[in-house]
Amino acid sequence: MKKVAVIGTGYVGLVSGTCFAEIGHQVICCDIDRRKIDLLKSGIIPIYEPGLEEIVSSNTELGRLSFTDEIGAAIQASDIVFIAVGTPMSATGEADLTYVKAVAKTIGENLNSYKVVVTKSTVPVGTGRLVAQTVAENRPDSSVEFDVVSNPEFLREGTAIADCMNMERAVIGATSDKAAKIIAELHEPFNTTIYITNLESAEMIKYAANAFLATKISFINEIANLCERVGADVTEVAAGVGLDSRIGAKFLQAGIGYGGSCFPKDTEALKHIATQNNYEFKIIESVIDINHRQRLIMLDKIKEALGSVQGKHIAVLGLAFKPNTDDMRYAPSLDLIPALLEMGATVTAYDPVAIPEASKQLPAETEYGANVYDTLRGADACMILTEWNEIKEMDLTRARELLRAPIVVDGRNCFSLQEMEELGLAYYSVGRPV
Ligand code: NAD
Ligand code: UGA
Repeated sequence: MKKVAVIGTGYVGLVSGTCFAEIGHQVICCDIDRRKIDLLKSGIIPIYEPGLEEIVSSNTELGRLSFTDEIGAAIQASDIVFIAVGTPMSATGEADLTYVKAVAKTIGENLNSYKVVVTKSTVPVGTGRLVAQTVAENRPDSSVEFDVVSNPEFLREGTAIADCMNMERAVIGATSDKAAKIIAELHEPFNTTIYITNLESAEMIKYAANAFLATKISFINEIANLCERVGADVTEVAAGVGLDSRIGAKFLQAGIGYGGSCFPKDTEALKHIATQNNYEFKIIESVIDINHRQRLIMLDKIKEALGSVQGKHIAVLGLAFKPNTDDMRYAPSLDLIPALLEMGATVTAYDPVAIPEASKQLPAETEYGANVYDTLRGADACMILTEWNEIKEMDLTRARELLRAPIVVDGRNCFSLQEMEELGLAYYSVGRPV
């Protein structure tokens, strides 16, 4: 059992801290956001993540997991300190390290005994060294030693608990064998592949992994756009291509492009790292451009379906960037709904969980439905932006009756072409014949 502090109790810090508690470690999750900590202390989970509430509650009851905004005390009481704060995209595209630097300073100021300082946040190569320098400069006693480790996180929102508990690998980039051994031992109960490397390589592995996954998505979206022009069906093409184990079937789902808190920011950050190092990273530049264009193609489709969007009433189903999360960061709906309103449409939108967050960010004139059917009633077309089960499993006969015009523009390929044709719905999806 190890004593662990996790600083930053967001999507990553809360899930990974809880999973470390689940495998038997003593974990304190810390945050500067007092509201978040108060909610967690009273048993309320501030984010929507399936299964999280149960596992937080059982570990809190067992006394293995606690929450605090007294970050200094939590650091002093721990042997391993994780940095899991946000690294948002700055105006220039590079990762904003303000929060990471602030935490490194706090760790330095509270370094009362040997600790392993682990960066879990996604950070540019070189940040581990910067964290080490900041901790060293701020420690009250320069004889107190510490090590830094890069241990990037690979979980996905919506399946975060399963991803963490069954992690495919733990990447450990360390400056000393001692620290690598401590962090490897920490992960032992996960029974996963431990991959030990140096600090810089571990930091790069995280960006390379996300960039490669984003590349797969942009690649299949380009194939989809070509499929539409030659009469092929991208879902069948992806299935056939994915049978080759060198390629794999995952992340070949064509659609409206990737969103979320990570792929958009991490691809931009990698491009920025390349530019800073006088290298033109052509693939990643194209991946970003294709992703941007893919969102706008949805607007062409709705215009094609309706003739003109002006004065039309569009029902938008799905607002979060993917199903099973309330996360709205870089969600396609944030670009598409304002564009529809700008073109003179009225919009009623629905999402099973993201409406409270979405309504803070979408234009005030956006209206919200109480459920799928309420949203579809009287609309000139339905546009699907997130493939929630509730949306994929809607009663299409009822949907057809509720819509004023039988038009569905689907950015997530939720339905079979045959089914839609049999129901008499004009179905515009991605990479498949209309
Ligand atoms: P988040 O915004 O949900 O959470 C960050 C938390 O850090 C917030 O609660 C914030 O209040 C807190 N914080 C900020 N400054 C602090 C400070 N000085 N002291 C204490 N707490 C502080 O972010 P997230 O989605 O959890 O992402 C965190 C990092 O993990 C990012 O670098 C991200 O790229 C990476 N990551 C995210 C995911 C994901 O699915 N969200 C997956 C893998 C990696
Ligand atoms: C992604 C990675 O999958 C995680 O491994 C990583 O840890 C995380 O980013 C991160 O660094 O934060 P996440 O953004 O939660 O996880 O969700 P994904 O399932 O990867 O989906 C990202 C976006 O790609 C979504 O908008 C999704 O709709 C889109 N996507 C995904 C596709 O368009 N097609 C696909 O085949 C897969």
